[in-house]
Formats: sequence, structure tokens, C-alpha cells
Amino acid sequence: MRHLMSPLDFSTEELDKLFDLANDIEQNPSKYAHICDGKKLATCFYEPSTRTRLSFESAMLNLGGSVIGFSDAGSSSAAKGESVSDTIRVISCFADICAMRHPKEGAPMVAAEKSNIPVINAGDGGHQHPTQTLTDLLTIRSLKGRLDNFTIGLCGDLKFGRTVHSLIGALERYDNIHFIFISPNELRVPDYITDTLTEKGISFEECIRLEDVMGRLDLLYMTRVQKERFFNEEDYVRLKDFYILDKPKMALAKEDMLVLHPLPRVNEISVEVDDDPRAAYFKQVQYGVYVRMALILTLLELV
Ligand code: NCD
Repeated sequence: MRHLMSPLDFSTEELDKLFDLANDIEQNPSKYAHICDGKKLATCFYEPSTRTRLSFESAMLNLGGSVIGFSDAGSSSAAKGESVSDTIRVISCFADICAMRHPKEGAPMVAAEKSNIPVINAGDGGHQHPTQTLTDLLTIRSLKGRLDNFTIGLCGDLKFGRTVHSLIGALERYDNIHFIFISPNELRVPDYITDTLTEKGISFEECIRLEDVMGRLDLLYMTRVQKERFFNEEDYVRLKDFYILDKPKMALAKEDMLVLHPLPRVNEISVEVDDDPRAAYFKQVQYGVYVRMALILTLLELV
């Protein structure tokens, strides 16, 4: 039985197969409409989410399956003190596969160890968010036709942003990727990540001003300042509007640069950018459903 804890759990060849399947689902949805008839997905969300949870639910419903779960730790037995290990043993009796989001780093791994059904990490604290990364990679591959030879700018909260941490780990496996980390000093990408990149000889640079590098980017991955992970309100207020992507900044970018964002957006992308053909963040949401459908089918060994 296979779980998904990190995007690195799949080799790049396996990812290619997964993305081919997602593209086929996009082209031929009716072919997949009943593959999960009678199967159940449990969504165990101990932390707020709209997109990821509904994306998983929509994915399972599109496959003909059904969904059970909770979207708030307060309404689950966690409020009574139940451990994730016990919860997953119980959920294993009710469902065929489980997507779990938890504020504690590593909680879905603890669950996976005790689980009789595949567990998908749907975000664990500031650590990893593998299905967002699968979404990001599928979006890039579908819209650009490749996953190598890019200069990618990651901008915003690179310290607490788990989507960024997962995406860097996944992209560094492809050839000729150059990372540009754009953040205020306080929100720099963690040392463990830059140390690994240095060890592996992967090229990256860090900078503060988005304008300085905009013209060199093939991809720009914007992120929200992660309010819920700050220790004090004052720092958050000072940093929250540090970057605002607007039309004048887009005018500095290449004509075929893509703007990605895991969403939710706060102020970091001005709504005037939404109509720019380079804005790919709403398409990304749609790709998220296809890739989760492909993932459910793969982990349930139905393809
Ligand atoms: C991201 C997350 O939860 O980490 N959202 C998502 O799942 N699409 C990004 C964020 O919350 O900023």
C-alpha cells in the first residue's frame, strides 16, 4: 500500500505517468466517471482549507465515489484528545482512502504508519503540501509542455510557505532549473533548503525586489504571507503587503511568463492582473482537480 507524504515519493517517471493520466482525465472525463463507484474518500482536515478539501471532494465525486470527513478539528474527536493514530485506525474502517491536513508537521506521517488505507498529506504545518506541488507541476507541464529549462521566481513568504518548500524539492530534480528566491529578509527560504541546493550544485539566487528580476523569469510563483504561522501580529502587518504584483510590474515580464499562485490570494496579486493571459492561477485550480483524480486512482490501484 502506498501513501503520499512528499512529492518525492514519486519518481519523475511516475510523475510523468500521473500527469499523462491527469491530462487524459481532462480530455475524456466520462471514461473515468464511474471508476470509484462504491469507494469512499475521508477528508480529515484539522486546519482551515477551502480549495484543497473541496478539490479532493470534487475529485472523488467526479470519479463516482463518495466523501465523508470533517473540516475542523473542533468538530472531531481530536477535541476530546484522540490521537491521529487512533483516528486513522477508525477512519480505515469507514473509508478506502484518506486526505489529511494538520497544523503539526509530520502528523500525516504518524497517521500513515498506523493506517490500513492510503493516506495523502494534504498539508502539514509549514512543512509540505505535496498535492499542491502536483497541481503546480501539472499546470506548468500542461501550459509550457515541459518541466525543465526554467528560471523560476518564488516570491513572498518563503519561510513559512509549505507550497514553496514542496515545489523547490520537486523541481530541483529536473534539468537546468534556476531558482530566484524573492522575499524580505525576515521571510527568506529556510537554510536547510538553500544548504541542500548548494550541496547538490543547483543554481539559485536570493533577492528582495521583484522588479529587479522580473524580466528574467519564465515562471513566477507568488505566495501569501502566512499569517497563521507568525508569532506576533506586528511583524505580520509590517510584511503582509511587501509585494503586490500589478500591471506595471507585469509590463516588465516576458510575454510568455506564467504567474502561478496556490491561492488563497490576499493582496499580493492585484485583481487587475487576473485578465492578463499570463495569469494562470485559476487554471491551476482546475488542474488541481485533475491531478487529485489521477492520484486517487493511482493510490487505489484502479489504473
Ligand atoms: C496553500 C496552503 O494551504 O498551504 N493553500 C492551498 O492549499 N492551496 C497556500 C496558502 O494557504 O497560502
